[in-house]
Amino acid sequence: MALLDKHSVIEKNATLLMVLSLLVVTIGGIVEIAPLFYLQNTIEDVDGMRPYSPLELTGRDIYVREGCYVCHSQMIRPMRDEVERYGHYSLAAESMYDHPFQWGSKRTGPDLARVGGRYSDEWHVDHLTDPQSVVPESVMPKYGFLTDKRIDATYTADLLNTHRMVGVPYTDEMIENASADFAVQVDPDGDIDAFLERYPNAQVRNFDGQAGVSEMDALIAYLQMLGTLVDFSTFTPDASR
Ligand code: HEC
Repeated sequence: MALLDKHSVIEKNATLLMVLSLLVVTIGGIVEIAPLFYLQNTIEDVDGMRPYSPLELTGRDIYVREGCYVCHSQMIRPMRDEVERYGHYSLAAESMYDHPFQWGSKRTGPDLARVGGRYSDEWHVDHLTDPQSVVPESVMPKYGFLTDKRIDATYTADLLNTHRMVGVPYTDEMIENASADFAVQVDPDGDIDAFLERYPNAQVRNFDGQAGVSEMDALIAYLQMLGTLVDFSTFTPDASR
């Protein structure tokens, strides 16, 4: 009772109540936020992560434009059923170059965080063109028009530059070579050494099987790299976490 009496003093004095509330909220805030500044591994440094290649980044824009995230998440949670179905749980570092991130909040379709390499390019072309031809009960819409939409690298350097502005470490060299790198990724006969040095482990091939670069090429290049950069056979989580 005595304690409640004391509390009623606070309740009756608006200024005191505000000052004390502010104090409580401040302490709570510091306790939650401060550790993030001292954990050097809030985003763990992970081998293999690199910025998206120009073609992958273009494909990612198409993924966002078409609203694929409305039905697909890209975040495998560390729960047994998810890890068994999709693979190693997602690391924060794996979406460190994603602006905006594609974690998603709905899984009408499966999680795509590690879909890279799970299917062939032809499978993706067939599936995106007519999902029901591959999975009869699928509710996924058809995206065949992507094959007909030719794209070029007119704005690719600008796209990389924009991502650099929000913190993706694209170098001057990457931006200067953006249009060449865009074209060479679908051309296995091209000069790919410098490209691969800039974007290690990037996959180079004609993704849609058609001549020229289409939105389908870009989207499949993006899908095929998802979750493939970190080598989980050698990855060990940071022990200090
Ligand atoms: C209306 C919801 C919906 C939208 C929008 C959608 N999908 Fe799907 N997607 C599904 C469903 C349901 C499945 C599972 C059945 C199937 O394979 O078609 C699926 C399956 C997939 C798979 C196979 C995944 C696996 O592991 O088997 C891929 C890849 C995929 N979608 C990519 C995309 C892309 C890329 C887009 C955007 C261009 C997209 N989806 C848009 C619902 C959707």
